[in-house]
Amino acid sequence: MSKNILVLSGSPRKGGNTDKLADAFTAGAERAGHSVVKFRTADKNIKGCIDCKTCFSKGTACSVPDDFAELAPLLEQADVLVLATPLYWYSFPAQLKPAIDKLYSFFVGKRPLKIKECVLLVSGGDKEERKFEGIVKSYQLIAEFLGWQDSGTLIVPGLHDKDDVLKTDGLSRAEALGRGIA
Ligand SMILES: Cc1cc2nc3c(=O)[nH]c(=O)nc-3n(C[C@H](O)[C@H](O)[C@H](O)COP(=O)(O)O)c2cc1C
Repeated sequence: MSKNILVLSGSPRKGGNTDKLADAFTAGAERAGHSVVKFRTADKNIKGCIDCKTCFSKGTACSVPDDFAELAPLLEQADVLVLATPLYWYSFPAQLKPAIDKLYSFFVGKRPLKIKECVLLVSGGDKEERKFEGIVKSYQLIAEFLGWQDSGTLIVPGLHDKDDVLKTDGLSRAEALGRGIA
């Protein structure tokens, strides 16, 4: 079955390791017959959730006017959500976190998303996999809360310069993960 896959790519570094992982995943998923939309959160102006609880009361998912108005319809169409992210201080970067926070609007507004699956792609500088435990746990708890199944977590450590991922098997693993979405 062909699925709508939304890839949120969270690095400010355009064409860097995270974007490359996102693109490799996309190539695999498209090869498997899925439709993929990539949304670079760092290129958008999405502010943090202010917990006003007025979601969906002013014609948009979030009442604070920003680029989440562009993202919300994409989230509503998606079957699978992919978080492609660099590791910043053991967590999600500021360029991605507000988009994640505003998933809250669908919960508060009682408008459940049809997303059933999620995927995590992480690029980071550290070589030790345990340094990624924080972001992986956050992702798992988000998925559990929203009732999403984890369809794959890929961590690519040891990446510092923009193209470092090219020296690893990260892109082929990301491609395989995309191709494996059933
Ligand atoms: C502000 C900042 C914080 C970072 N924090 C971490 C960190 O906590 N752990 C780590 O392993 N790498 C950290 N890094 C390194 C990036 O995660 C790594 O270089 C990543 O590959 C960058 O992805 P990109 O090429 O898509 O921008 C940090 C980089 C920046 C700019």
